[in-house]
Amino acid sequence: MRVGVLTGGGDCPGLNAVIRAVVRQGERVHGDTFVGFRNGWRGALDDVAIELSIANTRGMLHRGGTMLGTSRDTPLRTPDGVEILRATLGRRGIDALIAIGGEGTLSVARILSDQGVPIVGVPKTIDNDIDATDVTFGFQTAVQIATDAIDRLHTTAESHDRVMVVEVMGRHTGWIALYAGMAGGADVILVPERPFDIDEVCERLRQRHARASFSIVVVAEGSFPRPGTIDAPEYDLDESGRPRLGGISNVVRREVERRTGFESRVTILGHVQRGGTPNAHDRVLATRLGVAAIDAVHAGRLGTMPALRGTKIELVTLHEATDRLKTIDPDLYETAEIFFG
Ligand code: F6P
Repeated sequence: MRVGVLTGGGDCPGLNAVIRAVVRQGERVHGDTFVGFRNGWRGALDDVAIELSIANTRGMLHRGGTMLGTSRDTPLRTPDGVEILRATLGRRGIDALIAIGGEGTLSVARILSDQGVPIVGVPKTIDNDIDATDVTFGFQTAVQIATDAIDRLHTTAESHDRVMVVEVMGRHTGWIALYAGMAGGADVILVPERPFDIDEVCERLRQRHARASFSIVVVAEGSFPRPGTIDAPEYDLDESGRPRLGGISNVVRREVERRTGFESRVTILGHVQRGGTPNAHDRVLATRLGVAAIDAVHAGRLGTMPALRGTKIELVTLHEATDRLKTIDPDLYETAEIFFG
C-alpha cells in the first residue's frame, strides 16, 4: 500500500519515534511505501510532501520535535478543504492516511473519516487529555521536565524564604500540574478542572508558613479563578483562534504576595516542556502506537486509533477518542491534596 503520514497540532516528544515505527513496520512487514506531508494538514492541502523510508527515518527514535513539521491548519477551515485533500491523496495514489495528533487533529480525522477519507489516528499530546487511551506519549517526558524544574526551584525557594509559583502546560486539563506537583511535593496545585479561590490558596500558604519558610505552588496554564473572586487574565488569540495561554501564574503570584505578604516569584516553563528528547517510556509507547497504526491500516480498521489500555495496545474508534476530553482523576487530586499546605 501507499500510505500518507502527517503530524498535526503542537509538537511533542515521541513524534519521530511514531513516524519511524510506522515506516519500519510498513516497509519491512507489509511492503508499503510512504509519503510524509509537511506541516500537518497544510502539507496535504498544498501537496508538499517527502518520501519516507527506513533509510531517512533512521536515527529518529530519540529526536524531539517532528521531522515532518507541524501546524494547526485543518482542511475544515479551508474552503473546499476536504475535496482538495481527497485530490492530493488521489494524485499521489495514497490508500490511507495516518494522522498523528492531539484532540484537534484527531477530531478533524474523525470528521474526515466519517466522510469516507481512509484514516487511522495516533494520539499525541503532552497534555494527556485524550480519552480512550490511558496515557499519551510525550506526557511522561513533560512531567519529568516539570518535576526537575520544581526540584531546582525548591532549593532557591528555601534559600530566599519565598513562594515559588510554577506554571506548567495544560490547556484544558491539569494532568502535568497534578503529576509534576505530586512528584515535586507542591504545597498547592491549581488545575483547569477546579476553578480556584485565591483566598483558599492564601490560607493554605499561611498554614504552611506557620511551619516552613517557603512553598511551591504549581499552576496549570489553563487554570482560572472561581467566578466572582479575582479577574482572569485576558489572552490574545493565536493563528488558529485559540487563546494564547500563559501568565495565570502572574495573577496568582501578585495576589498571594499582596494578601499574605510572602515574597513570591514566578517561573513559566512553557515550551521547554515540549522540546528535546522523549524519555524511555515515551519512546516505547510511541513505537508501539506506530506499529499498531500501520497494522490497523492493513487490517482495514479505518476510523480507529491505537490506544494504551492497561499494558495492551488496543484499537478504539476516533469517535470514542474524541467524544470528550480526559480530565484529571478526582481521586488522584484528593491524594495530592493530603500534602497541600
Ligand atoms: O496542546 C499542547 C500544548 O502544549 C498546550 O498545553 C498549550 O496550551 C499549547 O500546546 C501551546 O501551543 P503553541 O505551540 O501553539 O504555543
